Amino acid sequence: VPEAGGPVDRFESLGDAAQAVQGCTRCPLYQNATQAVFGVGPSDASVMMVGEQPGDSEDIAGQPFVGPAGQVFDAALGEVGIDRAKLFITNAVKHFKFVPRGKRRIHQTPKPGEVNACRFWLDQEIALVRPKVIVAMGATAARSLLGPGATIAKMRGAPIPIEDGTIVFVTIHPSYLLRLPDREKAALERDRFVRDLAMIRDHV
Ligand code: URA
Repeated sequence: VPEAGGPVDRFESLGDAAQAVQGCTRCPLYQNATQAVFGVGPSDASVMMVGEQPGDSEDIAGQPFVGPAGQVFDAALGEVGIDRAKLFITNAVKHFKFVPRGKRRIHQTPKPGEVNACRFWLDQEIALVRPKVIVAMGATAARSLLGPGATIAKMRGAPIPIEDGTIVFVTIHPSYLLRLPDREKAALERDRFVRDLAMIRDHV
């Protein structure tokens, strides 16, 4: 398997890339995380879902979207009737960024430089899976895929073609729904998230 950061800029398989990302030192985030969390799903998936970064549970499990945000995500997929197993699920950043607070590890938003460094790995995933549709969940994923000016408010809900004809849809990050204190607002935002996911159902 080629070394991360070595002369190879394309891996031959997702398995090779997933192994190599464990040795990644492209940004400092590898220093405190338990492990890198690479994408999971079929190598021929038509739809790729991109979140921000692994959370506390994902950092421990080594799998994306298995914690609280993953439960919100799974419930929304279930409501729309999308089979999670058919999706390729990954994150813009592969290592968990956090600050310790007592026994807890508090999520921190990755910096643009960290997101850019990790684009290398997202590019590997995109090149190997060649999805037709990529869903950017949240601002970090949207900025990684569409540039620093990307915003959810401006870009949500309409397909955005990128380089190779791939289409990007922007929506909220499921953890946003967990942070809304107002129940009515949370219900409205959840409905909107479900409607966004319904737009990609026919591409899966
Ligand atoms: N939040 C993310 O953005 N990704 C995960 O994998 C889990 C939580």
